[in-house]
Amino acid sequence: MAPKIAIVYYSMYGHIKQLADAEKKGVEEAGGSAKLFQIAETLPDEILGKMYAPPKPTDVEVLTDPATLEEYDAFLFGIPTRYGNFPAQWKTFIDKTGKQWSTGAFWGKYAGLFISTGTQGGGQESTAIAAQSTLAHHGFIYVPLGYKHTFALLSDLSEIRGGSPWGAGTFSGGDGSRQPSSKELELAQIQGRAFYETVSKVSFA
Ligand SMILES: Cc1cc2nc3c(=O)[nH]c(=O)nc-3n(C[C@H](O)[C@H](O)[C@H](O)COP(=O)(O)O)c2cc1C
Repeated sequence: MAPKIAIVYYSMYGHIKQLADAEKKGVEEAGGSAKLFQIAETLPDEILGKMYAPPKPTDVEVLTDPATLEEYDAFLFGIPTRYGNFPAQWKTFIDKTGKQWSTGAFWGKYAGLFISTGTQGGGQESTAIAAQSTLAHHGFIYVPLGYKHTFALLSDLSEIRGGSPWGAGTFSGGDGSRQPSSKELELAQIQGRAFYETVSKVSFA
């Protein structure tokens, strides 16, 4: 059977959401389909207002119960960096996965990562590395982006661009005003396509 893919993300300012949409496009281009989920917000509206966070999309299911993910085979996780690591919203969700951790419900499933930071050097790669611990404890099999389909894009230094062999990425700028560039969106789409091609080599029950 074709792998069931979920793209799970948190996005305060919309950058990761744009990459999530491009990842989905890539999965579909490869002949698959993917369901988008957004991680639940944990901050009160008053604080979100002070942080100039726009309203979240209403057409993307909010993921509250980790058991929802048990029926999926493979995941693309979208992470907007906080100090080179998961934001607390993501961590709150992960910390609800004790049942899946202790029963191995996610063991042997596949996971890729895409990341957004404010700045260059702000933690795209360290966020991916920090996430490895969560993946390892759950037994997720990490699928990197690598260079096979991306060498030209990743080695092109003609303009500022997020993303790395660890996964697609974008820079939001210090004030969030920079939007994902066409090259960053292309990388995310390539990742979705390559991820689907990789996981569909496996047969799923
Ligand atoms: C509390 C906080 C901590 C952050 N830490 C970092 C950081 O360590 N490095 C960095 O480059 N950007 C940092 N940022 C910027 C976010 O990574 C950026 O807002 C995010 O990637 C934008 O993605 P989004 O539009 O999907 O929310 C931080 C933002 C906040 C609010």
